[in-house]
Amino acid sequence: MQTIFSGIQPSGTITLGNYIGALKQFTELQDDYNCYFCIVDQHAITVPQDRLKLRENIRSLAALYIAVGIDPEKATLFIQSEVPAHAQAGWMLQCVAYIGELERMTQFKDKSAGKEAVSAGLLTYPPLMAADILLYSAHLVPVGEDQKQHLELTRDLAERFNRKYNDIFTIPDVRIPKEGARVMSLQDPSKKMSKSDPNTKAFISLLDEPKQIEKKIKSAVTDSEGKVRFDKEEKPGVSNLLSIYSVLSGKTIPEIEQHFEGKGYGEFKSELAEVVINHLEPIQKRYYELIESEELDQILDRGAEKANFAASKMIKKMENAMGLGRKRRR
Ligand code: TYM
Repeated sequence: MQTIFSGIQPSGTITLGNYIGALKQFTELQDDYNCYFCIVDQHAITVPQDRLKLRENIRSLAALYIAVGIDPEKATLFIQSEVPAHAQAGWMLQCVAYIGELERMTQFKDKSAGKEAVSAGLLTYPPLMAADILLYSAHLVPVGEDQKQHLELTRDLAERFNRKYNDIFTIPDVRIPKEGARVMSLQDPSKKMSKSDPNTKAFISLLDEPKQIEKKIKSAVTDSEGKVRFDKEEKPGVSNLLSIYSVLSGKTIPEIEQHFEGKGYGEFKSELAEVVINHLEPIQKRYYELIESEELDQILDRGAEKANFAASKMIKKMENAMGLGRKRRR
């Protein structure tokens, strides 16, 4: 069975973008692959975090993974900082990466633009992400489109390491969903929907209440044409809403266009709100059952144990390949 690795940062409220781009894919893949799903808290501290809020977000994300349908009996769910191998492998891969290629990452450029003090961790974020993936010899990495460049770098680092030291890494492939690879902001459809957007109307959180969801969708930016029609260039706002409708309802875009023929945006938005609310209702219900439960701690303990076991084997191989430590006699 092939292996999958993916991670999400516990850096804010998980959005519909994270769900459609990542979490939903995970649930669809868990039956056919040996899956590792990670809460990448060490990536989150590359930008300032409030410690109490971070702790809360870590637990919340763990509960959400399960609430959306990840089965901890099938997939290994764990917290990155509870598996020290990630930081160890991250360091080794930093020593394989070049500063120039890290500076070229668009996420680094976006997040550091205009900032006076940028942490070194923001620059060396991608080798840590490569470590996450390569430690488990993942074949496939399901992510949204914004992570594609990081995946390309991961492949480059793995190939470079294999060539320079020893051929130990599997070269991973990226898996981006056909529909919803880049869910856009509801307020500015030229930007991706982001959990760190200061304007909370720009995103729908998986834990938003029905009233909030309705309000946010009602105030989503559209255009003056008044026709529910998919055209990413001319109608980015409406097209984004159509994509969300399609992914969550399972209907194709042409089916939805036909359904709304002769109807305006008001009706379209009300129905979309209903689709989103109905889709999130069982997820939220399960979330609130889990969040305070001991079951969640047991799942994370078991996950960390399994991940530690697998990752420490790869650390030995990496250290061996690079000549770190001592040769063991027995
Ligand atoms: P993060 O935490 O920003 O996002 C988690 C996942 O959600 C996807 N995503 C989106 N998909 C569609 N539309 C959007 N608007 C949208 N916003 C976010 C992301 O593509 C991602 O799949 N660097 C990663 C975390 C990470 C990781 C890894 C991922 C660390 N190590 C190893 C895969 C494998 C990140 O910041 O994702």
